[in-house]
Amino acid sequence: MASYTINGLSVTPIHGDFGAENCMPYIYLLSCFENLIPGFQLIRIQDKYAVIIFRGTGLDNERHVAFSAQLGSLEKNPAWGGSERVGTPYLFDVSNIESDGSLVKKDSRRWHHALGNALWHTDSSFNQHRSKYSLLLAHAVPVAGQGNTEFADTRQAWKDYPEAEKEKLRRYVVEHELWHSRKLASPDEYEKLTPEERNVKPPAYHKLVQQGPSGEETLFLAAHAKTLFDIDGNRLVDSQKIIWDLIANCTQSKYTFTAEWKAAGTLMWWDNRQSMHRASPYTENMGPRDVRRSTVIDDGPLAFGISKSYTEKLQVK
Ligand SMILES: [Fe+2]
Repeated sequence: MASYTINGLSVTPIHGDFGAENCMPYIYLLSCFENLIPGFQLIRIQDKYAVIIFRGTGLDNERHVAFSAQLGSLEKNPAWGGSERVGTPYLFDVSNIESDGSLVKKDSRRWHHALGNALWHTDSSFNQHRSKYSLLLAHAVPVAGQGNTEFADTRQAWKDYPEAEKEKLRRYVVEHELWHSRKLASPDEYEKLTPEERNVKPPAYHKLVQQGPSGEETLFLAAHAKTLFDIDGNRLVDSQKIIWDLIANCTQSKYTFTAEWKAAGTLMWWDNRQSMHRASPYTENMGPRDVRRSTVIDDGPLAFGISKSYTEKLQVK
C-alpha cells in the first residue's frame, strides 16, 4: 500500500490496517516522546496498525530499554540471574545464543523451550498481569529466508466472525499456562516440569473477548490457552478444539503477514492485546539469531484479567 506522512512520521501500511513500516531514524525514535505531538501520533499509529516495524534503528540494549520504558513499566525476566548475556532483567534473551557465545544445542531444554514460540501466541498471556507491548530488536539476523516472524490480526478476525456465535464466546474465560504451549510443541521434553518451572509460571485467567486500545472488540488468544470456562466456572470439555478452531480462523492468510528481519537494527513493536505472532522454529543451520525483547506491562482496565474470586471458584471445581 502507498506510504503517507503524518506530522513528520512516515507510515507504510503492510496488510490493510494491520501492520506498518516506519523508516524514521533511531534518533527520532528515541526522542519522539519528548515532543508530545509525534509521541502521541506514534501511539495512535500503533493502536491503528498493532504492529510497527522500524529499520536501521541502531539501538543498543540501553536505548532499547529507554525507548520501551517511555511506553510503560517493563516486565522483568523472572529467570534473570544477573549474569546473562543481555545484561539487564528488562530484556528477554530470545536468541539462539548461549552466554558463552555458542549456538543453542539441538534438543537442549532451551531448544525445546523455543519451539513453543513457533506456535501462534501473544507474549505473557500466561501472566495474570499481562503485557500490552513487545519490542523485539535484532542484533544479528539468521541467514536469508530463516527466522521470519508472522503476525495475525485478532481484531479483524473477530470483526468478521459470525455474529450468531459471538455472544456465547464473549462469556468465556481462558486459562493460559506457559507450560501448556511448551507441552504442545515438545510433548516428550515437557512431560515433566521441574518444581522451579511450575512455581515461576502458574496459570492465569483472562476473558476470551476483550476490547483493544481503540475500543474495538478483539480475541485474546494464544497457544498458551489451555482451558475454556463458561461464566459459571464450568470447564468446557472441548476447550482445545474450540481454541484451535479460533486460532485457525484468526490465522487465515487474509489476516496475516510475514515480516522479514532483513538486518540487525530492525525493531518490531507489536500490541499483544490485538495480535498474535509466531517465530520460525530454530534450525541447526540458521546461524546466530540474536533477538532481544522488552515487554511493556499493560496498564489498562483489563490488565489483571479476571478477578481473583472467580479464579478461586475455578480451582475448586
Ligand atoms: Fe512471542
